[in-house]
Amino acid sequence: MFKIRLLAITVILFEFQSSGSQQVWRVVPTTQNEIIRLRELGSTLKIDFWIKPSQVNRPVDFLVESEYEKEISHSLSVSGLPPHSVYIKDVKSLVGQQVAESKLAKAAFTVADFDYSVYHRVEEIYAWIDMVAEEYESFTTKRQIGTTYEGRPIYALEFAKESSNPKPKIFVDSLIHCREWITTASLMLVFKQMLQNDDYASMLDEVDWYFVPMINIDGYVKTWQEGGRLWRQTTRPTASSACPGVDANRNWDAYWSLPGASPYPCDYDYHGPTAASESEVRNLASYVLGFGYGNISAYLTVHSYTQLILYPYGYDDVLTPDNAYLDSTAKKMADAIEAVHGKKYVYGPSATGIYVTSGATDDWAYDVAGVTLSYTYELRDTGEYGFLLPPEQILPQSEELLEGFVALKDIVVANF
Ligand code: ARG
Ligand code: ZN
Repeated sequence: MFKIRLLAITVILFEFQSSGSQQVWRVVPTTQNEIIRLRELGSTLKIDFWIKPSQVNRPVDFLVESEYEKEISHSLSVSGLPPHSVYIKDVKSLVGQQVAESKLAKAAFTVADFDYSVYHRVEEIYAWIDMVAEEYESFTTKRQIGTTYEGRPIYALEFAKESSNPKPKIFVDSLIHCREWITTASLMLVFKQMLQNDDYASMLDEVDWYFVPMINIDGYVKTWQEGGRLWRQTTRPTASSACPGVDANRNWDAYWSLPGASPYPCDYDYHGPTAASESEVRNLASYVLGFGYGNISAYLTVHSYTQLILYPYGYDDVLTPDNAYLDSTAKKMADAIEAVHGKKYVYGPSATGIYVTSGATDDWAYDVAGVTLSYTYELRDTGEYGFLLPPEQILPQSEELLEGFVALKDIVVANF
């Protein structure tokens, strides 16, 4: 036990200066007991889970620094866990590849010319937001909804075409976890299609859309810096100087600090010192509440990865009174997505279907903002590349996501 504690401390100390290689390992637990042991190992060794231990026969993926390979594989076998497989051989070379491809992005001055085939730095995404607001100013508002901890503006794009009758509202956010690059990249392309492709004109004609493309912007900047690609948290200092940042998807003022989030700053799911302690969460929450309780028809908070459509509750194994409606809508979205490129998205209530998480956006939107159709999307893939989804998949990802949105729009309009 003592030895493991020591090791954990070393892992923290060296996290920021690791120079070796990184791999993603996969273990598939075959019993409930193995799931528990994986969780324990995760917290003693401060393992960065890419797919958290959830259910029997569901893979568990985690990042392994080369200098800890031996210790971790030793700990796995000492704990009697099944042997791991190396799922991603060289994380750093994948990261380097993505950044290099993005350098080739051509400068664009219009929404149509923007290069959607690569990932973009924060300045380029800000520029895209400006272009959208300018080119579609007759019905688009760029609204600053607050600032991040480091002082960067957080924007919403509001699309509200004139109409004689009131329209339902759909809310979309992305990048609350900043390493999930595919979320913002594919959503930009989804909204571009809604704006420019006549086949999708009904999307903006029949619904008002509210899109916050980047929430954890400070973290996103960090993910573009050397060694920062896999950052998940905000960047605000915590009680532990070794572990800054809070998991913004455990920080919402709904069931905050219950099981399903950690009180320890060094854990990946640290819920923060108080509910809504993070400026990003506080600003977004007050913007959403400004619409009034029950006035938003659907809220999609977009994450990656593992291809899931989750709905409340996350904090406990209880279902909402709207479970049947949430489930049938999720099924229609999942079917629409699958019809495009055959990708299967599993759907279900968050805690029951996946794992318990308290203080997450979807529970808050459902309970506090009164949004009935409240979903957490987890985009591609199922682990082959994980957070490092190659830019070639931005286009197909956006194509399937757009069809999911069409299915949602139809349901929202029919029930308005
Ligand atoms: N990957 C997400 C996270 O860890 C999943 C959240 C699931 N819980 C929920 N309430 N939707 O934040
Ligand atoms: Zn996430």
